[in-house]
Amino acid sequence: MQKWIIAAAAAVIVAAPVIVSPSIASAQAPIVLKFSHVVAPNTPKGKGAEKFKELGEKYTAGKVKIEVYHNSSLYKDKEELEALQLGAVQMLAPSNSKFGPIGIKEFEVFDLPYILPNKDALRKVTDGAIGKRLLTLLEPKGMVGLAYWDNGFKQMTANKPLNMPADYKGMKFRIQSSKVLEAQFRSLGAIPQVMAFSEVYQALQTGVVDGQENTPSNMYTQKMHEVQKFTTLTNHGYIGYVVVVNKKFWDGLPADVRGQLEKAMNEATVYSNTISETENSEALEDIKKSGKTQIITPTAEQNAAMRKAMEPVYADVGARVGKKLIEDVLKETTGGTH
Ligand code: LMR
Repeated sequence: MQKWIIAAAAAVIVAAPVIVSPSIASAQAPIVLKFSHVVAPNTPKGKGAEKFKELGEKYTAGKVKIEVYHNSSLYKDKEELEALQLGAVQMLAPSNSKFGPIGIKEFEVFDLPYILPNKDALRKVTDGAIGKRLLTLLEPKGMVGLAYWDNGFKQMTANKPLNMPADYKGMKFRIQSSKVLEAQFRSLGAIPQVMAFSEVYQALQTGVVDGQENTPSNMYTQKMHEVQKFTTLTNHGYIGYVVVVNKKFWDGLPADVRGQLEKAMNEATVYSNTISETENSEALEDIKKSGKTQIITPTAEQNAAMRKAMEPVYADVGARVGKKLIEDVLKETTGGTH
């Protein structure tokens, strides 16, 4: 009898870890990954973030809960990068133009006027050696760069027609926090003003600024076209994103979970970069249909004049962004000229 009790107790002890561990695992709270961003859900970035949530939660079988915060509902532009570095949020996708304030100026190369003639040229840069090298600059700042996501090409808006460089003189333009964009508007004789994305609509509405540059999907989803009488299809620059994750969080994940999230990110990247062009052309159609802003298609001469006026920007920001980096990107995108 005693023997039986001892044997039974031993069996419980031996069996205990096997019995207990699954129940602990199922009771264990999932790892929470907060993904914060500043644009609307129905944009290339908003949809990409939702796709990552769907796939990430599926591939990790619920071990990771991904919370997506759209429309600056958690943090605005400037705060979100600080929050990521502090670990208050785990993932972001800021535009290339927003890394300067935390000391990474090189991503501003993508802000140079007319540096990317099309998406194929862009892809050569982001998917090649330059793109990889740029991502390594993020690690000393406590973040890991996981992917490049597209938005699209920028258009200019104001309450007056913007055809030639002279039309920009003395006008106040909202810009993202990029010195290249600052130099771009100065080259046109305009006054650039850095402002968080979430504040642009109101600033346009109240006349704090006269104009802005953005992609059709960003303009349409923030209703900017309702408070700007003219939109000129300049396609002079590009907005794209670097998806970044807090390095400590990422390195601390179990290897299998990190692998599953990497797979989810790769697939979400393909998805987001596939829909970006359609999202923007549909948004432009919707803007046109609204009848609230007049669309101007510049002539070849007007385009050439804009290009010429902005050319000094390359020399102005060479030292900041890196002359060699600019040359390397130009080699990939335009065969060396701009
Ligand atoms: C902007 O601030 O205009 C854009 O970078 C917003 C965004 O994330 O697309």
